[in-house]
Amino acid sequence: MAEFKTLDDLEVSGKRVLVRADLNVPMKDGAVSNATRIERLVPTLSELAGKGARVIVASHFGRPKGKKVAEMSLKPLAGPLGEALGKTVAFAEDCIGEAAAQTVDSVEPSSFALLENLRFHAGEEANDPDFASQLAANADLYVNDAFSCAHRAHASTHAVAELIPACAGRLMEAELSALAGALEDPQHPAAAIVGGAKISTKLDLLGNLCQRLDVLAIGGAMANTFLHAQGMNVGKSLCEHDMAETARAILGTAQEAGCEIVLPVDAVVADELAPGVATHTVDIKNVPAEAMILDIGPQSAAQLAERLEGCKSLVWNGPLGAFETPPFDAGTNTVAVAAAGLTRAGKLVSVAGGGDTVAALSNAGVEKDFTYISTAGGAFLEWLEGKELPGVAALSGGT
Ligand code: 3PG
Repeated sequence: MAEFKTLDDLEVSGKRVLVRADLNVPMKDGAVSNATRIERLVPTLSELAGKGARVIVASHFGRPKGKKVAEMSLKPLAGPLGEALGKTVAFAEDCIGEAAAQTVDSVEPSSFALLENLRFHAGEEANDPDFASQLAANADLYVNDAFSCAHRAHASTHAVAELIPACAGRLMEAELSALAGALEDPQHPAAAIVGGAKISTKLDLLGNLCQRLDVLAIGGAMANTFLHAQGMNVGKSLCEHDMAETARAILGTAQEAGCEIVLPVDAVVADELAPGVATHTVDIKNVPAEAMILDIGPQSAAQLAERLEGCKSLVWNGPLGAFETPPFDAGTNTVAVAAAGLTRAGKLVSVAGGGDTVAALSNAGVEKDFTYISTAGGAFLEWLEGKELPGVAALSGGT
């Protein structure tokens, strides 16, 4: 794992500490609909305040593309953030310049301010050194607690780290250590479960995982592409027919690396993806020409759950079926419950993240039972691909 400073290494008392957070949280009708990212920030922010720092929180929200977009203001987040912290959070109408300076100057030690959306300035996404200097002008120290933004080389995740003393926050530390435990230095046998729709978006990820781990279970619509590549009929299922060659290459890489690929042996099929539709369970070799595979079958789920009993670590990305439309969540639920049980029994280290995974595990009712659930989407995927994340590299003195 990369070496970087943590909150233990910086003297923060009385200092203005700029914390890069990820407050890009889901909102519905003006209210936060899932507060996980806010809750996970609390340890870092509270620790800094407890040590007497003046805590300045910076984040992006949405993709306003360098312009001020009223609906993407972070102002509505100051209240929920304050509630999570049990303190008032002052709000600065801009993240740089006079408005930011005035608010930051008014923040007492052990108190908090939230800056307006970083992406209202084009310099943020351009990783512009001038914009980074303007951010750094209102801070003495920089803490990056946004692992979920670490795949972006932006001014607040990258350039600013070179301007003032920098360290990782507690959430960043937790994410990196969980991921290292699941992928870089896992306990063997080590497994991955990868689901989702398309292999074309996960080629690097599959290639990297099968070279590092012992078992790679593939579900979701991407399994259909592998089944098709092996000459099976997948009916009307979602399938990337033009990726058959690529799928065969991945199977070859896995074989050379000694990684066992686990594909479904049965499937739940229907004529269409719709609530209440009639379903059938079929052997994977007998998918009717007019049917769509919408979930792994019960035998596949049971076999995968059993396979996990022989594993010591698991990294999970992507649902195994169309879990948003029951009953096509059954396969994901069975395997998730099994992984959660093994984790509770201390037999499995389980790490999950990226895209729909957290929603799928929460639908299965097990999100609290996994060893670690990442707050990251795209950053989690890039990490699984084996890429260096600019936000992490900047903390370690890298590029
Ligand atoms: C996320 O939600 O994954 C992060 O906040 C990154 O957002 P972005 O994809 O807009 O950079």
